[in-house]
Amino acid sequence: VSSQKSGRGAFLLFEGVDRCGKTTQSQRLVEYLKGKGVAAELWRFPDRYTAIGRMIDSYLSGETEADDAAVHLLFSANRWEKREAMLAALHAGHTLVVDRYAYSGAAFTAAKKVPGLDLEWCKAPDKGLPAPDAVIYLSMSPEAAALRGGYGKERYEKEEMQKEVSRQFALLADDTWHTVDAAQSVKAVESQVQEIAEGAVASCSKGPPLRLLWT
Ligand code: TMP
Repeated sequence: VSSQKSGRGAFLLFEGVDRCGKTTQSQRLVEYLKGKGVAAELWRFPDRYTAIGRMIDSYLSGETEADDAAVHLLFSANRWEKREAMLAALHAGHTLVVDRYAYSGAAFTAAKKVPGLDLEWCKAPDKGLPAPDAVIYLSMSPEAAALRGGYGKERYEKEEMQKEVSRQFALLADDTWHTVDAAQSVKAVESQVQEIAEGAVASCSKGPPLRLLWT
């Protein structure tokens, strides 16, 4: 059995507040990895193109209203419906660069401060999903993020909400986290991200089992 066969792709996750540069950095990382001969794919959550994703999209744009708990479960279901495809890609040796996942799920709902929907409640539906090998947390103050051309029009794109989201993210940091200061230049952020990614891709090529999230 060649080492290629026993290995697997790495699950690399970008998290952070809105406008911290996740989307740019995740796209650049995929290009970089491909240039190095790594089979890399860009994924993002919410995936707005499934039936559940369309409901989420309509909620985020303000077109529809929904109960906070129900919406939280939709975001989680949107990850579960992609679980098999994620596992198949990782085991086929593809590295997944993912723009948001369950950490956003827990941090955003917990930030709403709805009685009963505390952080533990928010984490529960995502327990057992494939866990990332490395979380790249792009850290940026919500004030600095707001100055970056301002927020868009979606539901959570308000400074107060983003401040609370970053407090919740801090409570979710675990041993897979790498915090990168996103206020640096794009190039400086990029080179730190590349180093983290290359380390994770190299160790996953040895075939460590994927972990299950929050178990
Ligand atoms: P996006 O801007 O990365 O497409 O994300 C859409 C918004 O949805 C963003 O404000 C973060 C929020 N969100 C949740 O509330 N729960 C989740 O599970 C995810 C993935 C995102």
